[in-house]
Amino acid sequence: MTGSPPITLCFVCLGNICRSPTAEGIMRALVEREGLTGSIVVDSAGTGSWHRGEPPDARARAEAARRGVELQSRASTFRAGDTAAYDLVLAMDHSNHRDLLDLTPEPELRARILLLRSFDPALRPDDPHDGAVPDPWSGGDEGFAEVFDLIHAACEGLLDHLRTEMLPRR
Ligand code: 4NP
Repeated sequence: MTGSPPITLCFVCLGNICRSPTAEGIMRALVEREGLTGSIVVDSAGTGSWHRGEPPDARARAEAARRGVELQSRASTFRAGDTAAYDLVLAMDHSNHRDLLDLTPEPELRARILLLRSFDPALRPDDPHDGAVPDPWSGGDEGFAEVFDLIHAACEGLLDHLRTEMLPRR
């Protein structure tokens, strides 16, 4: 793998304080577990900028810590033009996905924008969240536990995809 450029990922939600920092932390932990640090680079951002510079929401940090994952990011904003910097841009919900497409007019770059849960091998057509990671911000602590589980399952599937489809072509 030495000499190949890393695969670059950006997880995107609305505020970049709940879902996408959780995805960034989980994916980084999985990449470390697999000894792929340096081959896969992980980032996150929000389509909204209200929380820029803030650490992840305390409830997201607490849920992640309970599962052995530390969330260390600071909120940043995804801007027009940013898609070109990543191999894959992983949207948490359909609204994030639409916003990212609006920021990315180029057809060849739009193909990089996908729903994170499309990588969950257990995702079913009758999924209660319609294939999205639901926004937990205005709900209770149990929403954060569910969000962690949904993101974890999808990130394991994403890692499998990177290992079998993308890393061998580098
Ligand atoms: P996130 O959750 O998109 O998962 O970070 C939210 C955080 C903040 C807001 C909305 C969603 N907000 O409206 O400030």
